[in-house]
Amino acid sequence: MNGDPVLELSDIQGNILRGYRRFTFAKFMLFRILSPDAGRKFLQRLIPFVTPGEWGDTPPRGALHIGISFEGLSALGLPSECLASFPVEFQEGMKARARRLGDIGSSDPKYWDSPWNTQRVHVVVMVYAGSDKQRQAHCDQVSAIAQDVNPAADAPLMEALPHQKAQWLKINGKRSRKEHFGFEDGISNPDVEGVPDNGPGVDIGNPDDRGMFRKIPAGEFILGYPGEGGEVAPMPLPHALGRNGTYLVIRKLEQDVEGFRRFVEEQSKLLKKVPNGVKPEDFLAAKMFGRWQDGSPLVIHPERPAGDRHNEFKYGDDLAGAACPLGAHVRRANPRDSLGFDGKLVSRRRLIRRGIAYGDYLPEPKNGHSPNGQAQLQSPRGRKPRESDPRGVMFLAFNAGLDQFEFVQGAWISNGDDFHQGNDMDPIAGSRCNRRMMIPGDETAGRPPLLCHDIPRFVTTKGGDYFFVPSLTALRLMASGQVRVS
Ligand code: HEM
Repeated sequence: MNGDPVLELSDIQGNILRGYRRFTFAKFMLFRILSPDAGRKFLQRLIPFVTPGEWGDTPPRGALHIGISFEGLSALGLPSECLASFPVEFQEGMKARARRLGDIGSSDPKYWDSPWNTQRVHVVVMVYAGSDKQRQAHCDQVSAIAQDVNPAADAPLMEALPHQKAQWLKINGKRSRKEHFGFEDGISNPDVEGVPDNGPGVDIGNPDDRGMFRKIPAGEFILGYPGEGGEVAPMPLPHALGRNGTYLVIRKLEQDVEGFRRFVEEQSKLLKKVPNGVKPEDFLAAKMFGRWQDGSPLVIHPERPAGDRHNEFKYGDDLAGAACPLGAHVRRANPRDSLGFDGKLVSRRRLIRRGIAYGDYLPEPKNGHSPNGQAQLQSPRGRKPRESDPRGVMFLAFNAGLDQFEFVQGAWISNGDDFHQGNDMDPIAGSRCNRRMMIPGDETAGRPPLLCHDIPRFVTTKGGDYFFVPSLTALRLMASGQVRVS
């Protein structure tokens, strides 16, 4: 937009606005700060390794990013006026917000994995690399720095908590962008004003009133810039601390792959008029996601996958959901134009997603499931992956206000009211209080509707929290111990 400030990419941490398709390996290193002084030294030593969003001509060979929780900011000794200026969702943290996020039953924080279940993580250092070896080398550097700021080994001042490895899945010997249920992931992200093209041109803006898409103002994702309404989102004090920073949602979401496969196999037997050449279970799974496994959107390719990861589509011509059900995962998570009002009800609910899988892919058994339900195939490394091995996605979402994420998670994933689906939840990511999903019929194809029932829980929350992702300037300010509000 004319007259708007230029996005200061060199001050903004790089994984917020730019996808890392080249880095297939990541590690989330988690720490607690036991002395403000050690915390500041830790930041000071890490700052030279933090990757900014401005790369010039040469993309980085690896990347490192830092997020700090509310308790982490407090442990760094930030003044109370500064702490009090952060939004309430961030101050309370994810665990305290469990009910509104649908983290109930087996997703209740008391069942989360260590360290998320017992204490609040203070700092997350996100390490990205192109190979396992490089990842290890970068992580060794970070661990050495954390140890360095500890003067005595028996009384650590930076406590290393259990870390989390994550990497693209290896399927049939090749690294793949698919998630564990077998669907191409990381396709659709917001197209943000002022950001260099992320590559294959799949980022998508918000619907405009001419029936097209327009780029999204940076203020929806970065503090200090105008957002959709032209205003700047509330910033923590002092402004030098908030500007060019944002909030990060991390959720460790465990996936029940065997349960998902068994469900679609069983329930797809009820489907009528499945398109020729398409397996009923693939058709049902696509209806639940809103895209086929290869990423082709149902709204453009309703009858069969087409190897087309198209992202410039709307739902306005499919208001009844004959092609893509109203309750499908991608349609709930980004309803585009389907709620009317030229997309205005949706335009402030966009999330930048940077999730990455953890755990080994469970190969599909060649001859269906064994009697006890365990997949029996060898993994690529010769080890038998078991149904019970933990696997899932480290879900990462950036937004300039955590209300953006909480709305999508609380109102659209965990409830169906906005989509005329009553209290039906998202069939993939919902916590399953109401176990149904309506798959509308398709008159043109002569296909009757199907009410999916007894949908079990496929995704369980195993941890997470809200983090502030400061600009490089703010990191330096915090490391100097000079944060002053007046
Ligand atoms: C384990 C849980 C989840 C799985 C397996 C999953 C999988 C997927 C897949 C396969 C896609 C389509 C590919 C793409 O556009 O990148 C997608 C899209 C998306 N998901 Fe999820 N997802 C999960 C949880 C969530 C949660 C919890 C949220 C939000 C709170 C979310 C928000 C989105 C959004 C915003 C999109 C893009 C929709 C669009 O722009 O068309 N997802 N997800």
